[in-house]
Amino acid sequence: MLEFPAFGDGRGRLAFLEGLRHVPFSIGRVQWWNNPVARDAAAHPPVGVGRVLLAVAGRADVRVRGDGVSEDARLDRPDRGVLVPRGAAWELVEASDDAVLVTLSEAREPHAEPAAGTGRRARPSTVDDARLLRLGGSDADASTTSVTGHLDVPFGVERIYYLFDVPPATARGSHAHKELEQLIVAVAGSFDVRLNDGATDRIVTLDRPDVGLLMPHMLWRDLERFTPGAVCLVLASLPYDEADYIRERDVYVAYRRARTPAS
Ligand code: TYD
Repeated sequence: MLEFPAFGDGRGRLAFLEGLRHVPFSIGRVQWWNNPVARDAAAHPPVGVGRVLLAVAGRADVRVRGDGVSEDARLDRPDRGVLVPRGAAWELVEASDDAVLVTLSEAREPHAEPAAGTGRRARPSTVDDARLLRLGGSDADASTTSVTGHLDVPFGVERIYYLFDVPPATARGSHAHKELEQLIVAVAGSFDVRLNDGATDRIVTLDRPDVGLLMPHMLWRDLERFTPGAVCLVLASLPYDEADYIRERDVYVAYRRARTPAS
């Protein structure tokens, strides 16, 4: 079993994992399966890349076989996962109705260096630069959604993190990122993302696993109105770095102002 770092406090729980750090490969594709048993009885044959399976909600029993491995694993904690090595197959044996199974696939090419610093950016993003993306499945099955780095999103996925067990009436976020770009998805339940760029507020409700909010850098965000059981999955363009956060409003406003070209 792989273990991922998890943090819990009165605002709910958060777990995260980074490519080449908590999983033994660069993350190429992230896929999630809602209601996996009903829709996904088929086995997943061996492929030439490694995969990691985890359940961010509910419980999934999986079987991994091949290439010297044989493992039955119960995935019932969001901060645990199982490795499917290159050349091994996996199948879903059983899952709870509320299960959300996430699979990470190894990038076929190692990632290029993550995007470089602010010099590259013409101006700070505004709330209008955040976009809702309709995400496709790997097949016609609407219960499966997949996102490939540099293809479906304009960045390589260096890290994923997910928020769960958020108590009612609790807000998360309340910060901006200097460089980080993200795709935010409600893989279970729903919540609101309140965006602000120092001038304008915009509220986006996320309530479907196949729609993601593409967040450019430097937008202030609050996550609010989580429904019970909601899970917020975030695909992130950079590893975790506290120095990339701006957690004070006045610092945020000054930081933007200093980087906004005079018109
Ligand atoms: P924080 O960003 O404050 O959560 P939220 O945006 O919901 O308010 O993160 C909570 C804690 O988790 C904080 O101590 C930083 C840590 N953390 C990581 O170590 N890695 C990560 O990828 C993330 C997102 C957070």
